[in-house]
Amino acid sequence: MLEYSPYAYESHENPYPIYKRLRAEAPVYWNPQIGFWALSRHKDVLMGFRSPELFSNRMGVSLEPSASNIKAEDMMSFLGMDPPRHTRMRALVSRGFTPRRIADMEPRIREIAVGHIGSFIDKGRCDFIRDFAGKFPMDVISELLGVPEPDRDELRSWADTVVHREDGVLDVPQAGLEAAIRMIGYFNKHIEAHQRQPSDDLTSALLEAEIDGDRLEPREVLAFLFLMIIAGNETTTKLLGNAMHWVSKNPEQRALVTENHELIPRWVEETLRYDPSTQGLARVAMQDIELEGQKIRKDDRVFLLIGSANRDETIWDDPDRFDIMRSTNASLAFGQGTHFCLGASLARLEGRIALEEVMARFPKFEIEHERSVRVHSINVRGFAEMPMEFSR
Ligand code: HEM
Repeated sequence: MLEYSPYAYESHENPYPIYKRLRAEAPVYWNPQIGFWALSRHKDVLMGFRSPELFSNRMGVSLEPSASNIKAEDMMSFLGMDPPRHTRMRALVSRGFTPRRIADMEPRIREIAVGHIGSFIDKGRCDFIRDFAGKFPMDVISELLGVPEPDRDELRSWADTVVHREDGVLDVPQAGLEAAIRMIGYFNKHIEAHQRQPSDDLTSALLEAEIDGDRLEPREVLAFLFLMIIAGNETTTKLLGNAMHWVSKNPEQRALVTENHELIPRWVEETLRYDPSTQGLARVAMQDIELEGQKIRKDDRVFLLIGSANRDETIWDDPDRFDIMRSTNASLAFGQGTHFCLGASLARLEGRIALEEVMARFPKFEIEHERSVRVHSINVRGFAEMPMEFSR
């Protein structure tokens, strides 16, 4: 009997063998205990992303009950919206979140990375997640939003608590909800301060964004700031940890990036294909849908398995091989269609800079794999702890 639940794979379990069986035996799979469908083939996941009229975001993108009970549209900003509301919000937000603003951040992002590395480089060892990958992305977001440096540690700790899960917990814990409330309180004040005194950061750019007289309300800006932290913080942490893990497990790939740092962007892309930070995203069916002989009913939850789509053998040769030289054009790591990751270019930039600095400063790292610890999460895959030693 084929049984799949994301809760079974939330910590150390390797989900890729079961994804393979799902693709072969039950590409449109129904889980009766939790009550959701899982789509595992690349073509179906792609279709799910590209068909908001069939598969809606309005219940949020997590299968966790309280994440979908709160009105996703309000809490999750435009991630929980469908067109045309989503289209309006995304257009306004994109006025502030421009490619130029991101590209201009490169020197500051590098300084932040170098600063964190400087705190442990002389020790010859670190926990790659606790000392670096778990701090760096949130500090980059804080920089982007104009959060003052003294507030950043506290904000990072709330953000970590919001996404933290213990093994086997089927819902958002109380501590997570409380941290979310504190973060919302903080951002309310942050926005008020920017209304009184505008600056040149993204928060002010969002408050000022305008299309034909239409502007974002302060509560919409707040929801967007909150979304950036949920969507852009731990995903990037996981990307960095997974990149280090897989290159360390594949010595011939490691030799390539050690010899030629120009290949680092490929290392980032193949990590995202091979073991994507976001393994699955939920939708809700807007009508009865017949797919691969199965009948999905209106209002059923549907889980799009990105991790499985990215290993689909009809798309990639030998998909279980980590190969930085392959084409990753069909990767669904950042989604597709209307909700395609708004922060993809920022994530890629952060990934490249972080790994460039790692390879320039401590390329001879050795991960203590047996002591690495994975996170508990039903839709994000990566590490919570990764002890390593290095000689310079
Ligand atoms: C490796 C890092 C990242 C991964 C794997 C990732 C993945 C994704 C995915 C799969 C989606 C699509 C959600 C859906 O279809 O429902 C998404 C959306 C989004 N991401 Fe990312 N993301 C990353 C980094 C970031 C960063 C750094 C930011 C910004 C600071 C960001 C901001 C967003 C936003 C705002 C959305 C919602 C877009 C919309 O609804 O139109 N992400 N991300």
